[in-house]
Amino acid sequence: MNEQNFSPATELLYKGRVVKGMDFNKPEAFPLFAVTAFTMNSLSEVREAYKSKYTYVRTGNPDRDALSEVVSFLEGGEKSLIFSSGMGAITTTMMTLLQPGDHVVCNRNIYGETFDVMTKLLPKFGIQSDLVDFDDLSNVKKAVKPNTKMIYAEVLANPSMNVADIPALAKIAHDNGALLMIDNTFTTAIAVKPIALGADIVINSMTKFMNGHSDAICGSITSTAEIIDAIHPVRMLTGTPGDPFAAWMMLRGIGTIDLRLKKQMANAAILAKALENNPYVLKVNHPSLESFPQHDLALKIFKSNDTMTGMLSFVVPEDMDKIDEFMLKLNFAHYATTLGGLRSTLNHPVTSSHSHMPDEDRRKMGVTPGMFRLSVGIEDAEDLIADFTQALEVFKK
Ligand SMILES: Cc1ncc(COP(=O)(O)O)c(C=O)c1O
Repeated sequence: MNEQNFSPATELLYKGRVVKGMDFNKPEAFPLFAVTAFTMNSLSEVREAYKSKYTYVRTGNPDRDALSEVVSFLEGGEKSLIFSSGMGAITTTMMTLLQPGDHVVCNRNIYGETFDVMTKLLPKFGIQSDLVDFDDLSNVKKAVKPNTKMIYAEVLANPSMNVADIPALAKIAHDNGALLMIDNTFTTAIAVKPIALGADIVINSMTKFMNGHSDAICGSITSTAEIIDAIHPVRMLTGTPGDPFAAWMMLRGIGTIDLRLKKQMANAAILAKALENNPYVLKVNHPSLESFPQHDLALKIFKSNDTMTGMLSFVVPEDMDKIDEFMLKLNFAHYATTLGGLRSTLNHPVTSSHSHMPDEDRRKMGVTPGMFRLSVGIEDAEDLIADFTQALEVFKK
């Protein structure tokens, strides 16, 4: 491409689209390499292939490599790796970078399975973690120990939407010789680029907004070449690389991420405001709202109200029969244990991601039986508002 200043939305469409090392190098869509191995005709070819080309699918695959180029471009990092899932990306990275005796400080508002990694899996390998409330940075400073090697947070915590102060967390991590790892799943690089704000490692569950079509599972890690080159051999040993077909599906979905996310983020801000004004909604958590306690921090991190996230949560009265009635009356947002798709989806944290926690602990995090998490799709915002408004009428006494 000529050295000109193109818009990122345009450049995105041309990243990772050239088939390297093949005779046919300009197909309009990237081909699916549904092969487990590439053939070679002589030992000198084999030796050459082991140095720089594709040999076996667990080691390397063109679809994964093309996708990693797109992810590095989006996240603004040196290199990326594609994994079988978001959890594969998280666990493989931790297995690479942490040793027995190391310590991790993690936000206590965190995705349920990441919580389990910190509290159940890492201790098996002699790695301890402290989960503290990152809203108050003095908690983070106090939790850091001489053996702290990593600080971990999601840009927006699930489901309360607390914002991670990435520059401040990066400073605490770096002052103590630790790495800052940030989960960008709820936000994506269209909303925020954590590496530009000081993070060392960014993880995405690409299963969600990155793919956007709710039809494939994948994860990514973006970081420096040094860190990625260290994770690569561990990914081979743990067998967590992304399947070529899933990577190909992601490559297909990610081409429209700029269009999708801009609409989803703007829709979420519009819907958050409408829900806040609805008499039957007790509370709405979306960083664009002036009532949101970290609204000013959110504006610093995300720049504008409609470029924050397509996610929000809201609270209705704790009447479980009426809650069922409300869900049945909704035409569009149906319950699904995922997020980031084209269509709006609802989730009820108390019966899913937070079901294993004592009620008292959940309430401290603001997670009550009346809370719904909503992933806002690309439907027309007016249709979504009308649909929620009619369904919420069930709470009328
Ligand atoms: C914030 C966050 N991080 C990580 C994950 C794990 O991703 P995956 O399901 O692709 O393993 C999820 C899954 O919902 C998530 O919401």
